[in-house]
Amino acid sequence: MESIKVFAPATVANVACGFDVLGFAVDSPGDEVVLKKTNSGKVVIKEITGDEGRLPKNPLSNTVSISIIQFLEKIGIEQGIEITLHKKMPLGSGLGSSAASTVAGVFAINELMGNPLSRSELLPFAMEGERLACGSAHADNVGPALMGGFVLIRSYDPLDVIKIPTPKELYATIIHPQIEVQTKDAREILRKQIPIKSAIIQWGNVGGLVAGLMLNDYGLIGRSLQDVIVEPIRSILIPGFDQVKQAAMQAGALGGSISGSGPSMFTLSKDRETAERVGRAMEVEFKKINIGNEVYVSKINENGPVVMG
Ligand code: HSE
Repeated sequence: MESIKVFAPATVANVACGFDVLGFAVDSPGDEVVLKKTNSGKVVIKEITGDEGRLPKNPLSNTVSISIIQFLEKIGIEQGIEITLHKKMPLGSGLGSSAASTVAGVFAINELMGNPLSRSELLPFAMEGERLACGSAHADNVGPALMGGFVLIRSYDPLDVIKIPTPKELYATIIHPQIEVQTKDAREILRKQIPIKSAIIQWGNVGGLVAGLMLNDYGLIGRSLQDVIVEPIRSILIPGFDQVKQAAMQAGALGGSISGSGPSMFTLSKDRETAERVGRAMEVEFKKINIGNEVYVSKINENGPVVMG
């Protein structure tokens, strides 16, 4: 194989109560990476589309190339690679934009080199991309983007990632208001210590959400989509957050919160029709305060990255 094109999906990280430990993949949007073998012995970025010239093309500063370089070092092969990255989702959106690109890149290079590593062995390379993008090697975007589905990072050291089964008819609605929040900034404003009272509520909800997903218990899923630690602080960065969330609940959502570090918001619903109605209700609220937005409705994406050619 001389070249390959791979798609990797957007992801919702945190899922309300699970800061840095829960995330799921959606069908769209997502990013595409094309890799081509060359004889130069170097990893270079040929072209990036859809980023309005904002992403670095220096291979040591770009999350896609850096993880490919580290992968090639690990397997001990000097291979020239030319990278083309098609960004199909907004930067700084809370949709796991950098994670989708990085995962598409590491999945593609592994395929191109004949799959020397398993899918889960690729995760640390993608996490290094996150470190470069925002200063923290969290796995709640790259985990689900790479493994597909709904993912729990039970432990970071050692890394222990578990795929959680979800109800077949569970749908996510994501709304991306056209403002930008950088993950790095959204992490810096968080408190470093939390009261034990909040921790008790939070870990009850993490357990409740995982149990609810596994038991197909929509009531339990809804009750557990509650974040008393991160959402109260970060929601200040999202104009209209409370009204949008309230409108979603009135339209029938099970629950919801900020998607990743925001500004996107997500909800879960028990069927497509409700998920679409929730999307329209949230859209109306953002429009009232003159914030343009895009809505995505999707099942949980079980595939993760897909080879497109
Ligand atoms: N868990 C990370 C955060 C996800 O909330 O900072 C970033 O998308």
